[in-house]
Amino acid sequence: MYCVRNVTEDLYWVGANDHRLHLFENIHPIPRGVSYNAYLLLDEKTVLFDTVDWSACRQLLENLDHVLAGRPLDYLLINHMEPDHGASIEEILLRYPDVKVISTEKAFLFMRQFGFHIDGHELITVKEGDTQSFGKHTVTFVAAPMVHWPEAMVTFDTTNGVLFAADAFGSFGALDGKLFADEVNFDRDWIDDARRYLTNIVGKYGPHIQLLLKKAAGILDQIKFICPLHGPVWRENLGYFIDKYDKWSRYEPEEKGVLIAYASMYGNTESAAQALASKLCEKGMSNVWVYDVSNTHVSQLISETFRLSHVVVASVTYNLGIYPVMHNYLMDMKALNLQNRTFAIIENGSWAPTSGDLMQKFITDELKDMTLLNERVSFTSSLNATKAAELESLADAIIDSMKDEK
Ligand code: FEO
Repeated sequence: MYCVRNVTEDLYWVGANDHRLHLFENIHPIPRGVSYNAYLLLDEKTVLFDTVDWSACRQLLENLDHVLAGRPLDYLLINHMEPDHGASIEEILLRYPDVKVISTEKAFLFMRQFGFHIDGHELITVKEGDTQSFGKHTVTFVAAPMVHWPEAMVTFDTTNGVLFAADAFGSFGALDGKLFADEVNFDRDWIDDARRYLTNIVGKYGPHIQLLLKKAAGILDQIKFICPLHGPVWRENLGYFIDKYDKWSRYEPEEKGVLIAYASMYGNTESAAQALASKLCEKGMSNVWVYDVSNTHVSQLISETFRLSHVVVASVTYNLGIYPVMHNYLMDMKALNLQNRTFAIIENGSWAPTSGDLMQKFITDELKDMTLLNERVSFTSSLNATKAAELESLADAIIDSMKDEK
């Protein structure tokens, strides 16, 4: 059965929802599913903006068939070639052999690399500043390299103010009928998945997002709709989401608060983490979030680390090193270019505690623009009352460091 919605009078969402995929990019859990958004414009010419993952191709085809209602498909416009959007390109070419394909030079290169038989079809290569008219609607193309792949572009419809934003302004989570961000309680139900999507998928490329935001700033008053390739379409309160993207891509925390990530084998490092959390709350800082790195997917840890200003890493020593899951979390921070946080360390080790020094070295040598508090709680096997003063002083240092911040 077709499943479509109008974005505007002549623009349709013709994408698909996916609740079957467990791991996005075969790595990030998506318990609320994901949507692959594709859009169809019915102008004097008909234009499909992007396709969907191969698993959702049948739905796209049914949707296209319904909305086209016998009209030919004139153009296929590809903003982003990653297979979660590009995998159905070849099927579209088979079904609509006369369709003209519009994309960037690099995207065409990638299509060939992925083995798509595009040659023999009319290919229109566009670059930043080029325009194309489909009748009433004229679009202009804006390069968006590394948001999220190098070939990516976004397309702006200057006639109705629709920005086809590719991976930018996307979110995990299936739409399940609710196409627009103003049809859901985004700040309550979606923001965590939006942050987890952006920070883990495109987080590394903050400067490139900043570049795109700067380009968008020049036409901000003309943007009426933001149509991303995943998650809800924005037509109200655009500034709310643009502001989030600005913060995330500048690696600026959204909130003053403390993430305590602990790695514990028998519960003793966990106990120290809980004791610190209680101390912080007792002293008035209750925006405290405690996570067991062994039981929390690293994509959620990363997302929370982007949200909060302070991070306490509490790790047992394992094989004279950092506990592997904690090490993986730190490595992911490095890979995603996370910056500008205040860190504190708790270390444990029964005969040779080394995790504290090793984490300190990683934070100072491998991560950018991090502040590390001098106060460290170090203990052997289990924390006891003799360490109460150290714990107190760590809690005080965290709270004091917050006073210096905006
Ligand atoms: Fe949703 Fe970079 O693809």
